[in-house]
Amino acid sequence: MLKVAPSLLSADCANYGAEIDGVAKAGADWLHLDVMDGVFVPNITFGPPVIAGLPKPAGMEFDAHLMVHQPERVIQSFLDIKTLDWISIHVESTVHLQRLLVQIRDAGKRPGVVLNPSTPIETIEWVLDDVDLVLVMTVNPGFSGQSFLPSVAPKVERIKNMAAKRGLDLTLQVDGGVSPSNARSLVDAGMDVCVAGSAVYGQADYKAAIRALKEA
Ligand code: DX5
Ligand code: ZN
Repeated sequence: MLKVAPSLLSADCANYGAEIDGVAKAGADWLHLDVMDGVFVPNITFGPPVIAGLPKPAGMEFDAHLMVHQPERVIQSFLDIKTLDWISIHVESTVHLQRLLVQIRDAGKRPGVVLNPSTPIETIEWVLDDVDLVLVMTVNPGFSGQSFLPSVAPKVERIKNMAAKRGLDLTLQVDGGVSPSNARSLVDAGMDVCVAGSAVYGQADYKAAIRALKEA
């Protein structure tokens, strides 16, 4: 069954507590936390103190998507957040990717690696053993509400095949413009978790929005 991870970026920032509770009650599986530093991407969101203060509903997993230049400079403050389950790092953001992924794993968190739309899948071949998750960006990161890039969709199936050949059971997450209209083909290609900004927080009825994604 597809897991849905609403992105807090699209929530009402004056009411994070209620917004998290709202999607949890509506059937969300994860909460996706988009950390942007204004350097790696042209936008700034929130960081460790805000994430550490968010209420975590029972049964929900928190995943941080770090859109941060040289995340090794700040990784420790994310590793210290008890409520964070998954931490994902962009291939393009650091020279010492494998070292960072091992550091995340050693701290008891689940490491993920993220690919920008134009980054080839071969860049993660040598770190696949060190991750539990691969996140495929289907928009150029920085903002919610952008259009899904259909040309990137084939990456999902290729990564799934690459992991299967290696006997690895990786979680495949897709982020950017995911909606009920493209969810079916992404699940067929191997998507396990969809990030949904506009497709959940942009809708009036969160329960109906999450159901629409899962039923698609
Ligand atoms: C984009 C972020 C996404 C974004 C998704 O840089 O990584 O997580 O919030 O929003 P939608 O689903 O609206 O594209
Ligand atoms: Zn994201």
